[in-house]
Amino acid sequence: MIFIEWSGKYEMGIELIDRQHRELVDSINTLYTSIMLNKEKSGIDLLIQFLIDYSHEHFSIEELMMREIDYGKADLHRSEHSAFHERMVDFSKTTESVIFSPYEELFYFLNSWVVGHLMHTDRDFYREYLKARSSVA
Ligand SMILES: [Fe+2]
Repeated sequence: MIFIEWSGKYEMGIELIDRQHRELVDSINTLYTSIMLNKEKSGIDLLIQFLIDYSHEHFSIEELMMREIDYGKADLHRSEHSAFHERMVDFSKTTESVIFSPYEELFYFLNSWVVGHLMHTDRDFYREYLKARSSVA
């Protein structure tokens, strides 16, 4: 099941970043499918933990890149990363007691966060990043 369909419009033009963004979208789709199909909780917990760890690693790389070009909107960008991280950690705790009743709200959040972040926040940053790097080269 596809919850967020990957599209060329999400590409930033940096191979590593595009691959990681795609992996994040794929992982969200896998989580969505597992919840929709009522898969075992232990498997779902692993998927949530993977999303938390993988996004953390990806955000760290992006934040390093922001420092590299002394990006002016880094604080705002980092706060969106934190919001994602906190929401996922919250969700991982919720699922310990209530079996997935809050999932609709989570997926609403994930959809608007991923699409908004890729289309605006990341787009803005990578445009500046590529510009700064090309003027260095
Ligand atoms: Fe980002």
